Amino acid sequence: MSSDVVRVEFKNDLAYVTINNPPVNATSTAVRAGLHEAVKTVAASSVKAAIIQCEGRTFVAGGDITEFDKPPMEPQLPDVCDEIEACSVPFIAAMHGTVLGGGFEVALACAWRIALGSTRFGLPEVNIGLIPGAGGTQRLPRLVGVEKAVEIACLGTMFSADKMLALGALDQVVENLEDGVFAFVQNLPQRPIGVSQRSSASPGSEWFSEQRTMWTKKSKGQQSPLHALDAIEWATQTDFAEGLKRERERFMQLKGSSESKALRHAFFAERKAAKPEAIAGGTVLPINIVAVIGGGLMGAGISVAALGAGYQVHMVERDAAAAAAGMQRVTDILESSVKRGKLSETGMAVQLEKFSSSSDYADCADAELAVEAVFEDLIVKCDVFKSLDKAMKPGAILATNTSYLDPQAIFADIGNPERCLGLHFFSPAHIMKLLEIVKTPQTSADVLATSFDLAKKMRKVAALSGICDGFIGNRMLAAYRRQADYMLADGALPFEIDAAMRDFGMPMGPYELQDLTGLQIAWATRKRQAATRDPKERYVTLGDQLCDMERFGQRSGKGWYRYEDGNRKPIRDEAVEELIMKYSANQNIKRQAFSKETIQYRLIAALANEGALIVEEGIAETRSDVDVVKLHGYGFPRWRGGPMHFVEQTGITDFKVHMAEIIAQSPNSWRMANWFSN
Ligand code: NAI
Repeated sequence: MSSDVVRVEFKNDLAYVTINNPPVNATSTAVRAGLHEAVKTVAASSVKAAIIQCEGRTFVAGGDITEFDKPPMEPQLPDVCDEIEACSVPFIAAMHGTVLGGGFEVALACAWRIALGSTRFGLPEVNIGLIPGAGGTQRLPRLVGVEKAVEIACLGTMFSADKMLALGALDQVVENLEDGVFAFVQNLPQRPIGVSQRSSASPGSEWFSEQRTMWTKKSKGQQSPLHALDAIEWATQTDFAEGLKRERERFMQLKGSSESKALRHAFFAERKAAKPEAIAGGTVLPINIVAVIGGGLMGAGISVAALGAGYQVHMVERDAAAAAAGMQRVTDILESSVKRGKLSETGMAVQLEKFSSSSDYADCADAELAVEAVFEDLIVKCDVFKSLDKAMKPGAILATNTSYLDPQAIFADIGNPERCLGLHFFSPAHIMKLLEIVKTPQTSADVLATSFDLAKKMRKVAALSGICDGFIGNRMLAAYRRQADYMLADGALPFEIDAAMRDFGMPMGPYELQDLTGLQIAWATRKRQAATRDPKERYVTLGDQLCDMERFGQRSGKGWYRYEDGNRKPIRDEAVEELIMKYSANQNIKRQAFSKETIQYRLIAALANEGALIVEEGIAETRSDVDVVKLHGYGFPRWRGGPMHFVEQTGITDFKVHMAEIIAQSPNSWRMANWFSN
């Protein structure tokens, strides 16, 4: 019997079971039911082997996410896999594309596995807070050994066909799938014992405990890799049926976990952020040459990101010496990528061939896009765009990488303002994933669509922002820091706040992060904002005092902490702590103790409140866009989903109480978002 999505055909003494469930042949209910029927049909025949293959661009690339939050429907994938393995006719998986999750589990149940050389494999369930749920953690260690199975299932990344062949997970890697399978069945080897029936030797309980320590450290609060490790250990302790049962139970339990919900939210939030409403109807304009103005820290990183995406890049600097220095910065980044094995020598040569630098704007004449990354100074930036306006074609897209200036002021004198926008990269620009695409009221949908396409080519995660001080990310960072400073003044110390936020899952607390990146930029911003700041707003001067004392952070050997012998490890500094106590005393503040939880709640409340205001003001289209910004530009733990998701999951009413406390403690400094006040 054949279904729409799974058909069985008999040719000579072979059965071909073909899955056709576009776009990625996911293991939806129809596919599972189709496979269940197909196994029965094959078993009733007298063929010598059955080949499972897929139409379209890939073999089964995972589960059907649209069925995710619904109750599981029969037949379930673990049972289908067992049926494939137990069938009287041996199955061959003939694979191409990306063989992921349930697809890989189906393949593991087959007697043999053959793949095209370009195929990639993985068990990515940990990335959405799960473990494989159809025998992956039980069959894989039995096939490739516990150590490799842990690497594959706990990392959740993809592996090449060659690597899989070397591990023994594949029987053959071929250049042409049809021919390869045909040749294989001509000399069909003796049917091997089913993978589930093999034994899996344990590397010992000590090894597992070392791995647990290692994965705990590596996954920074995320639990799913540890669950995958547990499940693989069961494969060494119990028989297959018991291991499979436990794996399924853990899988079902994790599906409802807050971690899995947060990771799934992050996944969908990224997809949504890539297609904002503002690009609807926009056409992607062709871009071949990108001009980058300014070859400093950001300009060099942006150039490397553009070269990596295949664009030709021309950098313009102030003079010949600066142009040569910019060229050197780009070369240094590429060389370091080669050293780290991220880029081949040939790849570097190809990119350098496409790169040039000069101090002459006329060299930008053919570029379709210019990204400006010169000093953060309105007059300097306006001059740059005047020169670009003259040198480039009238339709060329003009972008500024400004952090805090108003793009509308920067483009005030430029013709065709619909081609102007902000492209706000994060440092280091060739590494950081986030790109804030900043629209002005005039920016056209075509220009926005082109920018989102550019981001995709550069492998960036893009989020659309309107104009406000600091755009989405830095404006939220400012609110977070402001609240942290209020707590310092009211009773906390930097090390307590940092420890609380690390414990929450941030890679660093706000004060150690400031020391790492330097205190000057935020200081300059606060000075700039001084004239427009509401005089009634509570303003804690501690950061300014540190800057006055030239305590600029790690680079000056001291900031919120002190640093010894060029070491990056922050050491509590009595001088700073005394300064804080003195500040509180001078302000007549009776210092109070803040628990770790209060610190976390208050900082997340401040962050989420600002995020909600950003949405309410129309700066971001959705709260999930705000989450994307914090996840990819500011190290917010992905397994918490982002501040907006976290607050929503934990309970908006809870956070409303915290926000009310924050407001009561620092009146005139906050505006409660409608999201909280409704
Ligand atoms: P930088 O000081 O390292 O580089 C600026 C470069 O611009 C220098 O090489 C300078 O010679 C060049 N330049 C100055 N005037 C010029 C002109 N008229 N024509 C051509 N080149 C000129 O500064 P950085 O850090 O690269 O920042 C550049 C821009 O990127 C600023 O607007 C900054 O706010 C923004 N930005 C910086 C981030 C960071 O973390 N450093 C992050 C995101 C944005």
